[in-house]
Amino acid sequence: MNELTEREAPAVVIVGSGHAGVAVAAGLRTRGWEGRVVLVESDGHVPYERPPLSKELLAPGAPTEATPLRKAAWFEGKGIERVRGTAAAIDRPRHELALEDGRVLPYTKLVLATGSTPRRLPVPGADLGGVLALKTLDDARQLARELAPRAGRGRRAVIVGAGYIGLEVAAAAAKLGCDVTVLEFQDRVMSRVTSEPVSRFFEDLHARAGVRFVFGAAVSGFEGQGGRVARVLTADGGRFPADVVVAGIGVLPGQRLAEAAGLDVGDGILVDANGQTSDPDVYAAGDATRSADAYDGASLRLECIQNARAQAEAVAAHVAGAAAPPAEVPWFWTVQHGVRLQTAGVRRPDDEVILRGSPADGKFSVVYLRDSRVAAIDTVGSLADFTAGKKLVSRRAPLDAHLAADPSVPLEQAVAPLEAAAR
Ligand code: NAI
Repeated sequence: MNELTEREAPAVVIVGSGHAGVAVAAGLRTRGWEGRVVLVESDGHVPYERPPLSKELLAPGAPTEATPLRKAAWFEGKGIERVRGTAAAIDRPRHELALEDGRVLPYTKLVLATGSTPRRLPVPGADLGGVLALKTLDDARQLARELAPRAGRGRRAVIVGAGYIGLEVAAAAAKLGCDVTVLEFQDRVMSRVTSEPVSRFFEDLHARAGVRFVFGAAVSGFEGQGGRVARVLTADGGRFPADVVVAGIGVLPGQRLAEAAGLDVGDGILVDANGQTSDPDVYAAGDATRSADAYDGASLRLECIQNARAQAEAVAAHVAGAAAPPAEVPWFWTVQHGVRLQTAGVRRPDDEVILRGSPADGKFSVVYLRDSRVAAIDTVGSLADFTAGKKLVSRRAPLDAHLAADPSVPLEQAVAPLEAAAR
């Protein structure tokens, strides 16, 4: 880790060492950028992969080491300077980034890869011991310890939120022998990201592993004993005994620095296709940003690794003066009880839903049509549909809904003639 001297030569300074920040640094070197690159890390670990934190790292007998995004020696070899610190303020006129400890980093270009932070439940008792969130390696290690059986007895785990985090943790907790209850505010799991058939399929999968769901649950508080959580309370008078609580109720974009510096923000730092903010010398990439979707220009804040990497590539290319990479279809995945859901594109609640195959067989897809064109696809157990669907989303291909509903017809062969879609 680099110790800064009083005043250093200006550099491309990247704030945040998650998937986006590291990909910007790597992308600059790949494109032959020879100037100084400084990566400001607040996490204290060699930058690591996040997906295993809610999966492999919580498995029985799990490793406690994360998978590094790049090894420490790689950063050294590429001349990427890692600086441990937390960014406090941007002085745009002076082109300087101040760190909380008083150090100042002059920049030529600044990249905000500040990610997102878990939302906290604004209810009494949320700060009791044993009420956890999951975002970092340290969080995952703590959660793995909390979920492990004590004196041969499984723990009572209450999970708030049936989104990606809540469900991946529920699956891991069930495997560890926990008694698992999931409290979800909506009437089905993963309602933000998927449709009813997919939600019901995953709900069944969890139920078969012993996970209980309470839908329409509004958590009103936590009761503790000796400073630790003992019960979760809901507004309708429900009381759920708990040894450990995990809140997976969504994230807030890391826009504090940008906002304080007067950059344009609005539930995310606003960036263009090059990752540029309203200040041409300040870029942003990853979960912290909001930008126009390549599909139809809708303003989106995407929370996925693919987007973090794609935006990082765009930033690196623009800073290095290289050709912009082609726009990519966003894609996502989750694994629960060994079953993988793969999604391409971003569905909207009013899209037409076409079910291909039968959830009862454990292999099915849901295609989302907008104006008769493929806007998104969810697939379970069908790599072929995922691969074909992703291409169809990128082409906004018109689809024959009748053919698409027949799983014996390869998806790419369900494309309708353009004139048919226009009718
Ligand atoms: P999420 O937005 O996916 O799910 C949050 C869930 O909590 C929603 O179902 C929502 O209805 C529910 N909820 C919100 N407030 C609530 C309340 N007060 N009481 C009960 N339920 C409430 O967010 P999640 O799961 O926290 O994930 C956080 C981030 O981590 C996301 O950016 C996600 O993309 C990322 N992530 C992605 C994974 C993947 O792609 N496989 C895996 C794990 C995390």
